[in-house]
Amino acid sequence: MDIERVLVVGAGAMGSQIALLCSRAGFTVACHDIDQHRIEAAYLELTDRSARDVAKGLRNQHDEDAAHQRLTFGTDLARLATDADFVIEAAVEDLEVKRALFNRLDRVTPKHAILASNSSGFVPSRIADATERVELVCNVHFFNPALVMKGVEIVTGPDTAHMTLATAVALVRRLGKTPIVLHKEIPGFIANRILGAVRDEAIFLYESGVASVEAIDTACRTALGYPMGPFELMDLTGIDIGYYTKRARFAESGNPRDAPSKSVIELVALGQLGRKTGRGWYVYDGNGRKIGPDSGQPQPS
Ligand code: 3HC
Repeated sequence: MDIERVLVVGAGAMGSQIALLCSRAGFTVACHDIDQHRIEAAYLELTDRSARDVAKGLRNQHDEDAAHQRLTFGTDLARLATDADFVIEAAVEDLEVKRALFNRLDRVTPKHAILASNSSGFVPSRIADATERVELVCNVHFFNPALVMKGVEIVTGPDTAHMTLATAVALVRRLGKTPIVLHKEIPGFIANRILGAVRDEAIFLYESGVASVEAIDTACRTALGYPMGPFELMDLTGIDIGYYTKRARFAESGNPRDAPSKSVIELVALGQLGRKTGRGWYVYDGNGRKIGPDSGQPQPS
């Protein structure tokens, strides 16, 4: 299927970068959010990102200006959706919200439009039956920061048409990314399941008093060659994102190993969600640069 117009739903850290990625690749892009303040923040973040990339010689000014001209933001979903060929939903990680959103998208997008979720927590079959186009629903899962990370997981459900998969793969390639196609759906897909096992072990070591957050991160960076440690990564992706994902998985499985850990629950309750709030496992300056460990972080028992 020929794709010209992409609609991204959600202008958070993931949605806004996915929108710029798509407009850089030549698609005409609309980015929706229910919150006008988030749209204004996303606009500033992307403008700043473009300026940095131009200053570093990674992008040229002309191409970047053209990408921004192809990108519009708005709060009126029905208006932005009227001519979309491909939708990427990057809204809050809440199943009922996503199902309601897909049901609405089904009614306001053209009948041929593919509806993809950026979720890794909810498999396509949990979302597809909120629409009347199950064959056009799949997951296209980007990694944070979406402008940088190469891999994108593509997941189909039992009812997804082959043409939907082929179109999603072609779109991901056109974005300059590497498609990673799963044979069947499973919550968390590949990367987040592996990442989750590492993160859970890191939290176990910390909560057991074996080592500090910094020591565990340093071990992962310097002994295992990870680009960042698991606590630094939780701060980058948002502590709340991991919390909601685990909470949803626990609600389904009832397995205590799937429940959010004590220290993560405390950080979420304190509103210390990582870089975006200036505090998480570490403290950050106004530009998102790490200042040091957070002395007020939950202490191991
Ligand atoms: N957005 C866009 N570009 C960014 C960025 C961001 N948030 N952070 C870094 N970059 C790019 C910029 O070009 C930056 O240069 P600049 O600061 O001059 O603009 C350049 O990378 C270098 O950044 P830094 O010096 O801050 O740090 P690093 O060299 O360590 O790179 C990193 C940062 C790319 C994030 C790297 O540390 C990394 O690869 N970390 C691992 C990320 C990872 O594992 N992501 C997957 C998370 S799981 C997930 O996303 C699942 C989902 O379901 C939540």
